[in-house]
Amino acid sequence: MPTTATSSSAPSSLAGSKRIFNFSAGPAVLPEDVIRQAQKDLWSIFDSGIGIMEHSHRGKAFDRVIAEAEADCRAIGNVPDDYEVLFLQGGATLQFAMIPMSFLPAGATADYIDTGVWTTKAIKEAKLFGNVNVAFDGSACSYDHTPTSGELKLTDGAAYCHYCSNNTIYGTRFETPPATSAPLIVDASSEMYSRPIDVGAHAMIYAGAQKNLGPSGVVLVIIRKDLMESARAGLPVMLDYKKQAAKGSRLNTPPTFGIYVMGQVFKWILGQGGLKAVAQANEAKARIVYDAIMGSGDFYAPVARPECRSRMNIPFRTGTPELDAKFISEALEHGMSGLKGHRDVGGLRASIYNAFPAAGCTALAEFMKDFAQRNG
Ligand SMILES: Cc1ncc(COP(=O)(O)O)c(C=O)c1O
Repeated sequence: MPTTATSSSAPSSLAGSKRIFNFSAGPAVLPEDVIRQAQKDLWSIFDSGIGIMEHSHRGKAFDRVIAEAEADCRAIGNVPDDYEVLFLQGGATLQFAMIPMSFLPAGATADYIDTGVWTTKAIKEAKLFGNVNVAFDGSACSYDHTPTSGELKLTDGAAYCHYCSNNTIYGTRFETPPATSAPLIVDASSEMYSRPIDVGAHAMIYAGAQKNLGPSGVVLVIIRKDLMESARAGLPVMLDYKKQAAKGSRLNTPPTFGIYVMGQVFKWILGQGGLKAVAQANEAKARIVYDAIMGSGDFYAPVARPECRSRMNIPFRTGTPELDAKFISEALEHGMSGLKGHRDVGGLRASIYNAFPAAGCTALAEFMKDFAQRNG
């Protein structure tokens, strides 16, 4: 039977092969305890003699897996009873389409806050279905910040307002959800359950799993029932939130292994002490990296403005693309991978999700200092 995963640690020798510090933006590092438990449950879960990947999605073992995953998800986020918790497919990208398809009727307008790439893609999809008001266009400032309330141009009576709470690429985040009277929908893919979240302030929260919650292939959706009930009728079943909810996210064969791992990650978060404890650890880890950037004189430059810096994704640069490339290749020799910045921003990026160990942040900070001394 799966045990509750309890602690994060520096990468260690696992099954004879060495693990290194993985700064990938996603798919990303998972808690070691979760991986170890998954190794056991791949062979046989709940002493059933059948591995988790081999159980029927309608059998008793998977009933238990999905019920525990939902219960633990609700416990972590204090999710009220008038919200459904769904485990869907198609990643966050399918949500970009499902949301306007369901909740943007003809003649209505949805507000979109564009903080870069992911929200730009969401806007493009929404425009296929209805009117979009770009309430903030971050392209004018190279997406270096999330908007203040004064910068938002919201629509009276908008069908909903969509934003992304943490921009994976530009390393910006909203300190608090934007204030709007419209139903608020958030793409929380790259920071889900990395800090306390006010579920009640949102009509819908969605997050692709592969950063903070598990492997790729599952998207977590937490949706208020009144919004769900208002969805347009006549959609294909897989794109219909109500039908997905009515079938307990098992309308077809769901990604059973992904849901299982997400459930184990939820147990790990609870074992850490919940979101306050996880957020505290994330603050401390991010401080180590930001201090290394800001303490370097001008050798490293951050991408995001100080007031809205992400604790999950930290993009920064040296002075030149050549030095950035040298940094990436030498870092790899020191056991640190995934530090290349997104192609739209260039430079470097350290993604330090929940499961990323503090020891990796310290190792990076020490390497950054040494690299700056040698190349400054
Ligand atoms: C904030 C954000 N939204 C959406 C996506 C797209 O997610 P998916 O690949 O699951 O469709 C990503 C992927 O990196 C992301 O970071």
